[in-house]
Amino acid sequence: MVTRSVTATAPGKINVCLRVGPLRDDGYHDVATIFQAVSLVDEVNASESETFSVSFTGPIDTSGLTVDESNLVLRAARAVAAAANYSGGASIEVIKRVPIAGGMGGGSADAAATLVAVDALWGTNLGTAKLAEIAATLGADVPFALHGGTALGVGRGDILSPVLAKAEFHWVLVLNDDGLSTPDVFRQLDRHRNEHSIDIETVAVDPTVDDKFLHALRSGDALALAEYLRNDLQAAALQLRPELGAVLEFGETHGALAGIVSGSGPTIALLAPDEPAAQALAAEFTADGQTALTVTAPAPGARVR
Ligand code: C5P
Repeated sequence: MVTRSVTATAPGKINVCLRVGPLRDDGYHDVATIFQAVSLVDEVNASESETFSVSFTGPIDTSGLTVDESNLVLRAARAVAAAANYSGGASIEVIKRVPIAGGMGGGSADAAATLVAVDALWGTNLGTAKLAEIAATLGADVPFALHGGTALGVGRGDILSPVLAKAEFHWVLVLNDDGLSTPDVFRQLDRHRNEHSIDIETVAVDPTVDDKFLHALRSGDALALAEYLRNDLQAAALQLRPELGAVLEFGETHGALAGIVSGSGPTIALLAPDEPAAQALAAEFTADGQTALTVTAPAPGARVR
């Protein structure tokens, strides 16, 4: 008998705007963010099996990833099985390209791709709304990896409104082998805010995103978007990794319109005026011995290939 399998992809993301409110009682922070999915995707291949298993391969080092039951991919597959009363399992292989602990939602992309892959493999047909509901139980960024495109996220970042912005932007991503822990970066932000509460602007309890972002995204005006890029986690990431400041500066002096720490970092996202400029900038980083790649945004969400 031939084993059936389904392949799905899901994109990494950058946050072109990330406003962070105060720490909540549940350990999360209310955010107001604009996610944009990029053309760097992880791929999930799910095959029929009586049990559940996951393995990782790909162009980035995946040797540090745990493959026990705590793995988000297995939790995603089991959640679909539970919701659909499905009694079988799946053998899942993930090809990773989105950096691990890079601030680009790579783990969330794997979970989102798994949701659509096993749902198609098993023919459980849970539907978009149910998959989105399961996604929110797996992590704050999983609903966006499922959704893709450009979206406004509030709450923990999991309450999404689509932003109809089809204009294409060209980004250069500068990767870092040494990931940053998202909870550590949020903790650093809280620490900094507690220690310097007199010096910094009052933290909005209910953070919001300015309309100017939405206008720039809709119009495809890279110059305007470059002016507005904003990430409240950037200072915290730079305090934990001061050397990222030099990456931002290198990018901005070699053709980027502006740069930003992607999410909780350490990936740096640099906005280029057009594709040739993005290619030239990536080449400058490569010549400098750094790992850089060009991507376009927005890109589609998790989908069967
Ligand atoms: O939901 P996820 O597992 O991706 O979040 C990882 C951690 O990042 C959370 O446990 C929390 O410490 C932090 N976080 C946060 N506020 C958010 C999203 C994440 O504090 N809105």
